[in-house]
Amino acid sequence: MCAKSLIFTRKYSVATKTVSFFTTPIYYVNAKPHIGHLYSSLIADASQRWQKLKSHNQKIIFSTGTDEHGTKIQRAAKMHKTTLNGYCDAISREYRDLADNFSVEYSDFIRTSEVRHKSTVQAFWEKLASKGLIYKSTYQGYYCVSDETFLSESQLKEVEQDGRKLLVSTESGHPVEWSEEANYIFKLSSFREDLVYWLKQNERAVIPQKFHKILLDLINSGDALKDISVSRPSSRVHWGIPVPNDPDQTVYVWLDALVNYLTAAGYTHSSKEDFNKVWPPDLQVIGKDILKFHGVYWPAFLMAADLEPPRCILCHSHWTVDDEKMSKSKRNVVNPMEKGEVYTRDGLRYFLLREGVNHSDGNYNDTKVLRLLNAELADTLGNLLSRCCGKSLNPNQEFPRINFDKISRLDVTKQLIKHLENLPNVCAAHYDDYNFYKCADAIVATLHSANLFFESLKPWELKKSPETKEDLDAALHLAMECLRVCGILLQPLTPNISEALLDKLSVLRSERTFEDSRRFSWENREFSGRKLGAGSAVLFKRIVLAEEKIKKAQKG
Ligand code: MSP
Repeated sequence: MCAKSLIFTRKYSVATKTVSFFTTPIYYVNAKPHIGHLYSSLIADASQRWQKLKSHNQKIIFSTGTDEHGTKIQRAAKMHKTTLNGYCDAISREYRDLADNFSVEYSDFIRTSEVRHKSTVQAFWEKLASKGLIYKSTYQGYYCVSDETFLSESQLKEVEQDGRKLLVSTESGHPVEWSEEANYIFKLSSFREDLVYWLKQNERAVIPQKFHKILLDLINSGDALKDISVSRPSSRVHWGIPVPNDPDQTVYVWLDALVNYLTAAGYTHSSKEDFNKVWPPDLQVIGKDILKFHGVYWPAFLMAADLEPPRCILCHSHWTVDDEKMSKSKRNVVNPMEKGEVYTRDGLRYFLLREGVNHSDGNYNDTKVLRLLNAELADTLGNLLSRCCGKSLNPNQEFPRINFDKISRLDVTKQLIKHLENLPNVCAAHYDDYNFYKCADAIVATLHSANLFFESLKPWELKKSPETKEDLDAALHLAMECLRVCGILLQPLTPNISEALLDKLSVLRSERTFEDSRRFSWENREFSGRKLGAGSAVLFKRIVLAEEKIKKAQKG
């Protein structure tokens, strides 16, 4: 965290910082939240929760929020026949509710319509202008209204629509029109070397590697590094932040939006000293569609203002639904609030983080969600806890005291103990690489072996005779120890299920850190004799969907 070198072509110092800073993208309020939006937030949330788990005294800022300016929003408000402010308030509220409902533990929810953001954007603009990196000019080119951007000829293709030839953006398919207007231009072209250097000197500047490479290729390809227009005439885009000293121009939405991260870090509202404790972001989570903005424009803007670019941009892929692109026109947009009702919120969290892989697209399918949650959360995790806590096997409702010297010599327990001793480090390596699915996989594998171990000892037989009580206690204790360790390690993925599990096992709040997952009961014996908590031992109820119930009834 405390590198001192300063080798960049463009001058900015590499800071010594004391606060970790995590961000999600800020969400457009032109549409309601879907699982893709939730996914970006969950990745950032699980990452910051992992950081907290590892170093619980570390100060963390975690920002999320909404992107509220531009013609897209102007149009959406008009379509809904509401005022711009009313419209933005309502949709922004939905994004905030989404985060709250899915336990996204943000410390700052930023809206680009806030006064603190306006002053940050204007201060940042003035900084770029003072360095001579923004100039006014007439900009000519093909403009795509939907994407709010000028496009070069190589980014266009001709299509036929209603018998007419039409030029559209190759990337988005949206139509373009020739436009000529006064704009402020940012000298992006003079940042090529700096960007290449930034990427090359840090393999983890953009991860996974696939996106690091895509970005380098893009930067080297020429087109992406042309000077860009950073304002729009306010006659066209009035819903935005005015350019300082030129109210006829509105700051380009992407410059406005990217600066939200500086607003959250206190660029204009904290002392320089406090801002330096936070800057730069340690992890910025984005989806692949916004890689160019975060991997080219953003670091260039920052270097232009003598600020260090983000330490790590984590780019994820997209969700398709039943193997099709998710889109309004296909009417297959998955509403996370609705699905959270069916699968529980932690259930949906678990599915998205368990199935999503950063480097390639994931597919959402309801049958898959149902099967995965029933198999892993209900039958594997939940089942083991309810077995251990049932009065018939555990009449004293406790972590039984056992003879550790004896059980650690038995073959059947040796294997489970070994498995469990490896698990924390295996998970740590996967969490550090943001491979959440691998973490879940390792935890579930451990729980499988604990279930097998438990069954192989036939506890329902052992309970019948006082002579075998010692073996029953050993089976219970080890299974519960396994649940304790898994419960701690699952916290970044399923915070609420973990909480219920750890509460039931009477694990104190101060005993839920990563270090605690490596302090085993056979070493410190802290849990021997500890009474179980009073709460329910049902962690996750098997889900039976209405159609399934009907099918079963029909069969029956
Ligand atoms: N407002 C901009 C971001 C500005 S950040 C300075 C934006 N907003 S968005 O609402 O359209 O998208 C926000 C996030 O949702 C992006 O990370 C995007 O990748 C993600 N997703 C949108 N659709 C998605 C899927 N189908 N699947 C996964 N994530 C996707 O872009």
